[in-house]
Amino acid sequence: MKNTTATFQKMKEKHEKISMLTCYDYSTAKLMEAAGINGILVGDSLGNVMQGYEDTLPVTMEESIIYGRSVARATHDTMVVMDMPFMSYQVSVEQALTNAGRLMKEAHGNAVKLEGGAAVCPQIKAMTSVGIPVMAHLGMTPQSVNAFGGNKVQGKTADAAKRMLDDAYKIQEAGAFAVVLECVPAPLAALITEKLTIPTIGIGAGNETDGQILVYQDMLGMFSDYVPKFVKKFANLGCEMTDAFTQYDREVKSTAFPDKDHEFHKMSNPEVLDELKDL
Ligand code: KIV
Repeated sequence: MKNTTATFQKMKEKHEKISMLTCYDYSTAKLMEAAGINGILVGDSLGNVMQGYEDTLPVTMEESIIYGRSVARATHDTMVVMDMPFMSYQVSVEQALTNAGRLMKEAHGNAVKLEGGAAVCPQIKAMTSVGIPVMAHLGMTPQSVNAFGGNKVQGKTADAAKRMLDDAYKIQEAGAFAVVLECVPAPLAALITEKLTIPTIGIGAGNETDGQILVYQDMLGMFSDYVPKFVKKFANLGCEMTDAFTQYDREVKSTAFPDKDHEFHKMSNPEVLDELKDL
């Protein structure tokens, strides 16, 4: 059964947790779908984990569409949310609508995600009014890393906590179907989750949000440039991959690979080899 915005809403109402992961490629998206993950975010974290940038700011619309399409092609039941790159929606409502439309039409997303609260409510209203579901994102919003002065937990002070709750109400009112809460103190995330009627998806926001999301390379132990405190490694594929690459390197150099089981023997006309020797 396809996971839709209605599925997410029902899951919140029934107190069933929503699982989301980021993904950027066909093969991995197929594995996530097979595992029953409810939603995939083609996050602009692709700038970090796929492209090696220090932050998400350089990611372009064209890149998001290419990565997004690969994920959409692999999925049937999983909801695919396309992240809107930095400066693809902030300039104007018209620009936001055009780019959200491209992510739906060209990348075949089921929804888009943008960062921010009250400031992006006109964009959320415009998108939802033409049938584009919008996931919002509050707390440590990575596109504002320069304004925050680093990857810092948000909502710690009374004022900041009030502002976040107010933003959460506003994006809900504007029509967002869900909101990501990133690096938010667990008690504040729990309170926002209780107050909102739409689902909250936490990342570094404790256990009481309606769902969770992690960057897949982080949770598989494949990315070590920067590992935030909230990341749990569910596997250590980084080590396994390095071991496999090392063994491959060794076997290629020793000629142990390829062995007879991994080569083709049969030729319809093997005598031709004798002829070829003389050429
Ligand atoms: O881009 C991303 O991966 C995200 C998640 C961290 C929520 O926005």
